[in-house]
Amino acid sequence: MRMTVIGTGYLGATHAACMAELGHDVLGVDVDPGRIAKLESGEVPFFEPGLAEVLRRNIDLGRLTFTSSYEEAAAWGDVHFIAVGTPQKKGDLGADLRHVDAVVDHLVPRLGGDAVLFGKSTVPVGTSERLAERANALASGIDVEISWNPEFLREGYAVADTLHPDRVVLGVVPGGRAEQVAREVYGPLIEEGIPFLVTDRATAELVKVSANAFLATKISFINAVAEVCEAAGADVSALAEAIGHDPRIGRQFLNAGLGFGGGCLPKDIRAFMARAGELGADQALTFLREVDSVNMRRRGRIVDIARDACGSLLGARIAVLGAAFKPNSDDVRDSPALNVAGQLQLQGATVTVYDPKAADNSRRVFPTLDYASSAMDACEGADAVLVLTEWPEFVHLDPRAVAAVTRGRTVVDGRLCLDRQRWQTAGWEYRS
Ligand code: UDX
Repeated sequence: MRMTVIGTGYLGATHAACMAELGHDVLGVDVDPGRIAKLESGEVPFFEPGLAEVLRRNIDLGRLTFTSSYEEAAAWGDVHFIAVGTPQKKGDLGADLRHVDAVVDHLVPRLGGDAVLFGKSTVPVGTSERLAERANALASGIDVEISWNPEFLREGYAVADTLHPDRVVLGVVPGGRAEQVAREVYGPLIEEGIPFLVTDRATAELVKVSANAFLATKISFINAVAEVCEAAGADVSALAEAIGHDPRIGRQFLNAGLGFGGGCLPKDIRAFMARAGELGADQALTFLREVDSVNMRRRGRIVDIARDACGSLLGARIAVLGAAFKPNSDDVRDSPALNVAGQLQLQGATVTVYDPKAADNSRRVFPTLDYASSAMDACEGADAVLVLTEWPEFVHLDPRAVAAVTRGRTVVDGRLCLDRQRWQTAGWEYRS
């Protein structure tokens, strides 16, 4: 099948490459010509394991091309995926839908015939209905059907999650052709037995935000329990393991620590609350406010532990290991690690950050922090070492080698990822 994927960020670039991998002829579309030039030359503009290989293979096979022209996009065919960003509005909890609206505004007037538009971006419930009205007003003599097909991929596992998803969810209007088109698009996955769930559009939109709200709630639940564990001298990791054996609870997403960040969970729970408010159902989601505040409290708690370890933050030298919001990613959007680094610096500490992949992005957001080119360099002369993203290279650090270059002997494990005993045996005070 021929299809376009409009928006080539983490979501769109992955979707475009993976749809080509399924055998389709895909045109990736983005308004940023620099990004298009990179993708055309087989370069992924962000860190995502395995994506470059899929991208290059499909470019070489002639199944994947790119453009920044909406004329070309409209002429390419009658199936279009919308994969642009829906960030949090500035000064507001709601989602900024400007980019999604712009796709409809630019694409629809240029279409030469009937088309199906599949939205993949995470949007507030009601968006596809609103976009359908917008598209109808712009379409002359053609039928433009809007369907919602949320994406559940995780950064760091984007290719595997797209080619082997847990489920495909599709929100449609009755009597349309979107379902049939989607069954062809995802044919190879459906043959593999991956559940294909067809709902109305509002439900599909809500499936995505509910899934993310549930995951965020799970993380904040264990972090709230961690606060009690800390007060009571109990071990939250052992507790998570013990409750996680109950299949109704499950062990995944019960890792206590610095909490969630990234481009999805924080903004999605806020947009969900804002939308519920608009719909007059704000009371239903007030607990998400607490989910958000438990999460934000984690960051302050790590700063407190670091202050306690150093006596005072004024003049303290602190090594921050990790800047990405999670390992296997270079994404620093709403990164808890960088937020903590920034707070420490504001309170007078000299902070040196090291991250294996996210240093360039971090520098753009926090140019005033110092950046080292290795974990050991970051630790040089430090009074305390903070591990804030659980990259495997930090998990495998040799505590004796680190002790040979630091001034202090406190390690703060913000992700409960270090072998406590190993660090203690090497003479470290271990805090978490
Ligand atoms: C998330 C959803 O998992 C994905 O389905 C959706 O499509 C997009 O949002 P992502 O943002 O890539 O994916 O990251 P995820 O792996 O979910 O982690 C989110 C944050 O939660 C990270 O900051 C991570 O460190 C944190 N986290 C995760 C915890 O603090 N504890 C956990 O147990 C799990």
